[in-house]
Amino acid sequence: MFGPVFLGFLIIQWPQSLRSCQMFSSQEMSCWNLSLSAVPTELHPRLSRLDLSNNLIGELGVVSLGLLETLDISHNQLHVIQEGAFSKLTKLHTLNLARNFLYRNVIDNSQAFHFLYTLKTLDISFNGLEDRDVEHYLSNTSSLEHLTLAGNVLTRLTRKLFTASRHLRSINVENNLISEIQKETFDTLKGLTRLNLAGNNLVSICDFNLYHIKKLNLSRNFIEFFITPENEELYELEILDLSHNKLIFFPMVPKRNHLKYLNLQNNKIGDFENNISPLNANSLYRQMNLNVFETESNNGMYSYLKRMPLTDLDLSYNKFTSFPLKAFKYFPSLKSLNLSNNCLMNISDTESEVEQGEGHPQQKVFPSLRSLDLQDNQIQHLSPGFFHTLPNMEELVLKKNFVRICSPGVQPDTSGSIRDGGPSSTQCTSFRGHRNLRHLDLQENGIKVLFPHTFELTPLASLDLSGNEEMTVVREALYGLQNTLRFLSFRSNRMSNSELSLPCFNSLKKLDVADNTLDVLPRTLACSPLRELDLRNNSFTHLEETVIKNLSLHLNTIYISGNSFNCCTAGWLKVLRAVNMTIPDLHSAKCFIRLNQSVSEEFFTNQSNQCPLYVNTEVGGTDLVNLMLIIIITVIFLIVVALFVKRFVLDKSSQVTFRSNKVASCQYCYDDQCSATVAKISSFETVK
Ligand SMILES: *[C@@H]1O[C@H](CO)[C@@H](O)[C@H](O)[C@H]1NC(C)=O
Ligand SMILES: *[C@@H]1O[C@H](CO)[C@@H](O)[C@H](O)[C@H]1NC(C)=O
Ligand SMILES: *[C@@H]1O[C@H](CO)[C@@H](O)[C@H](O)[C@H]1NC(C)=O
Ligand SMILES: *[C@@H]1O[C@H](CO)[C@@H](O)[C@H](O)[C@H]1NC(C)=O
Ligand SMILES: *[C@@H]1O[C@H](CO)[C@@H](O)[C@H](O)[C@H]1NC(C)=O
Ligand SMILES: *[C@@H]1O[C@H](CO)[C@@H](O)[C@H](O)[C@H]1NC(C)=O
Ligand SMILES: *[C@@H]1O[C@H](CO)[C@@H](O)[C@H](O)[C@H]1NC(C)=O
Ligand SMILES: *[C@@H]1O[C@H](CO)[C@@H](O)[C@H](O)[C@H]1NC(C)=O
Ligand SMILES: *[C@@H]1O[C@H](CO)[C@@H](O)[C@H](O)[C@H]1NC(C)=O
Ligand SMILES: *[C@@H]1O[C@H](CO)[C@@H](O)[C@H](O)[C@H]1NC(C)=O
Repeated sequence: MFGPVFLGFLIIQWPQSLRSCQMFSSQEMSCWNLSLSAVPTELHPRLSRLDLSNNLIGELGVVSLGLLETLDISHNQLHVIQEGAFSKLTKLHTLNLARNFLYRNVIDNSQAFHFLYTLKTLDISFNGLEDRDVEHYLSNTSSLEHLTLAGNVLTRLTRKLFTASRHLRSINVENNLISEIQKETFDTLKGLTRLNLAGNNLVSICDFNLYHIKKLNLSRNFIEFFITPENEELYELEILDLSHNKLIFFPMVPKRNHLKYLNLQNNKIGDFENNISPLNANSLYRQMNLNVFETESNNGMYSYLKRMPLTDLDLSYNKFTSFPLKAFKYFPSLKSLNLSNNCLMNISDTESEVEQGEGHPQQKVFPSLRSLDLQDNQIQHLSPGFFHTLPNMEELVLKKNFVRICSPGVQPDTSGSIRDGGPSSTQCTSFRGHRNLRHLDLQENGIKVLFPHTFELTPLASLDLSGNEEMTVVREALYGLQNTLRFLSFRSNRMSNSELSLPCFNSLKKLDVADNTLDVLPRTLACSPLRELDLRNNSFTHLEETVIKNLSLHLNTIYISGNSFNCCTAGWLKVLRAVNMTIPDLHSAKCFIRLNQSVSEEFFTNQSNQCPLYVNTEVGGTDLVNLMLIIIITVIFLIVVALFVKRFVLDKSSQVTFRSNKVASCQYCYDDQCSATVAKISSFETVK
């Protein structure tokens, strides 16, 4: 009897704002972004998760939720926390206080933190905290395992900072102003495996001794060198990110490690002639010569690299001018190497190695490498030993280089000796017979001609030849790829039909010929199970319906905008629409109509039927003959009619009317056939 009355009473008593909080289950509630200025008072005592983020809460009183495990008050205006605020939260393990004003009232607020005995995860990033502030807040958080301090204003990490939190497993101090890390700061943290120091002001790591760290992020500092003391200690390190620093030399990683992923992107490795730091670098690396990997004297220093299980190495955006093939011996497990955006002229055997070889130099083979990115260098050719040395390479990116492809007569010797080849053979690169290569990117290399059988016996699945302006693809250039090629791009090559000869590709799924001057679809496309076709920015006036019909069996998506289609011969579009083809740019595709001498354009989507001579709807390219027949028959018919009219019916004035009618009925046509009709009619009329 009292039940319903009581319930009604409860609802009325709920604070206005709480009604918009969402219950996800009896234990989870979200009051996200409700402009709350205080923690709602009537909260279910059984809540285990409470989200109060993105509100206007400035002060936090005692929260009486004994079962609460996760509390999120991030993105508020918190600056006052009562001493007992967390005292009842005996089950709390995750607390997010990011993006508040915890730099205010630090001494008082930190009293509340003394009650967080059970807390495992704490986020106090973006709170304007200085070194001392953090020390206060962390003075009794002994159970803490994961700590995030990102985006504060810490300048150094000290021994005192983490002494209370011996169980820390991950620390994130990204984007602070840290320029100093005191010795022994991490010594007590035996369980620490992840440390993120990215975006600070560190200039060197001189004595790396964090044996237990698995993942270390030092990206975006000002680090000039990274040195591990020489010892036999086993380091757990698996992932090291030193990208966006100022390293001049390859980092001296631990002798014994588990390093799999090493990111050195955006440093200054490779160039030792300029900008050598006046610091200790000279004495530390005094034996260094021009290239890290080139001189024998470095062998000792880098020999321990050979023991690394490294699989991923990113050296992009550095200063390498050459990269000798023998350098791969330092990375016996490497699967992926990124050397993009360096100053490489070639990847070659060094002369010294050939000399050592005595007659038949022993060509080393590095079978682990699968992917090599050489984008944006100045490579003109890859030495003959290149493919031989890296026999299992599947992906090769040569975008934006100056690679010359060998013409049919010239095959550089692939036996491994580079002495035999004359100058012409060493200045070009052959892509024939590389049986493991699957993905080849030759964009923007200034390639002018693709000779016959360029890729024979190289079973490529994807080939990108875009941005090679005015390239000619001669007959049979792509022979050998018929059964394997799945992706092909000729985008932005300024090619016309006569310059593009394609065989019948049995597996081609995606073809990009955008940005050329094509006006006819290659008929061989009909053999391919294409799923995506990009024809944008070409010179097509129509697409051949027979080809389109065959393609529509497999095609999902076609791009057509930027062409000069004839509105009156757009039967192909009907075919595409009938099968519900996805034409993402149909709204911006235009077609043209000739009115007298002027040409007007309209959007396909908006097309009014202005094409009276719409014969072409049914006419495909194969029916050109039929079309001519129709025209001829029409013309003969008109002549007969006109003669008949002239002789039996009309005087001169009505003949004028007749003439303008005929012209009007043809005037919307644009293609050659239609103008031919118009021309025939007008010539008939002048004949009289
Ligand atoms: C938060 O709520 C306000 C209205 O109270 C709304 O304008 C704003 O878009 C919301 N923010 C987000 C990220 O949804
Ligand atoms: C620190 O935490 C312990 C329990 O881990 C507690 O006994 C002690 O009182 C706390 N210290 C302060 C100053 O609150
Ligand atoms: C290191 O931190 C940077 C900056 O936050 C981030 O972009 C990068 O992905 C991190 N690296 C790794 C390996 O997680
Ligand atoms: C190589 O690095 C460049 C630039 O850092 C990047 O754009 C590219 O995707 C990378 N290549 C691979 C294969 O990861
Ligand atoms: C490779 O490039 C260097 C310049 O970086 C040049 O001196 C050397 O002759 C080139 N090697 C070959 C085989 O072309
Ligand atoms: C087509 O040409 C337009 C205008 O020149 C250009 O903005 C657009 O990026 C081009 N699209 C493609 C796919 O080449
Ligand atoms: C197009 O499809 C038809 C019917 O499936 C087939 O007979 C014809 O050979 C195909 N054309 C080409 C060029 O494959
Ligand atoms: C195309 O879509 C329309 C409506 O969405 C549908 O009625 C028709 O069956 C579809 N046709 C084909 C060939 O999928
Ligand atoms: C087409 O020609 C006729 C007669 O010569 C003229 O009256 C009409 O304005 C022209 N139309 C256009 C769009 O130029
Ligand atoms: C479609 O045609 C109407 C009139 O026929 C015109 O007002 C409108 O601007 C056209 N829309 C587009 C996108 O051209």
